Amino acid sequence: MPKNDNINNIIDHKLFSEDDIHQMCVKLGKQLTTDYAGKKPLIVGALKGAIFFLTDLVREMDVKAEIDFLDVSSYGNEMESSGKVKLVSDLATDVKDRDVLIVEDIVDTGLTLDFMKELLKKRGAKSVKCCVLLNKEANRKVDVDIEYYGSKVGNEFVVGYGLDFMNFYRNLKYIGVLKPEIIKLVNNK
Ligand code: XMP
Ligand code: MG
Repeated sequence: MPKNDNINNIIDHKLFSEDDIHQMCVKLGKQLTTDYAGKKPLIVGALKGAIFFLTDLVREMDVKAEIDFLDVSSYGNEMESSGKVKLVSDLATDVKDRDVLIVEDIVDTGLTLDFMKELLKKRGAKSVKCCVLLNKEANRKVDVDIEYYGSKVGNEFVVGYGLDFMNFYRNLKYIGVLKPEIIKLVNNK
């Protein structure tokens, strides 16, 4: 980590502005309003990265929805997926016979989403779909269906709007690309 914590020291460039993110939420919200019309979905937010996206997204959905949260972890403080996913904190809601929509910040290898989808299907959910803000396809390891996404991103590490670097910078209003030299610093540690 650089000693000086100025944001300009870690962000290479802005990728999505607040307005870009808002437009994605509006578009996805409209689509979800149509697709879940007449249903009472359970919206499952993946902690902690998805909370910013979830709160903006659900307010663009004209649907009678319930909200709950699940915390699964595959990353720890590392920059690459450990390949193992574990349940850190469970839902309070029974998903049996529910239409479940998982909301996630970003899909990378796909392991986390696949784990969550399979878990909720095993528990008897009627349907399990997902809505991710960012779809990073370059490192996909499992072929998991991404029913809804805001935008594709390249193979770069992004932070802000819920996305973290070593658990910081989630509270940036925009999404930026982390400087490659910061990633090297962490990898060479
Ligand atoms: P998988 O590989 O299981 O990972 O699809 C999903 C989780 O990995 C984290 N992730 C990132 N976090 N910037 C981040 O802040 C990124 O570029 C990035 N890529 C993956 C994230 O926690 C996500 O839930
Ligand atoms: Mg996450």
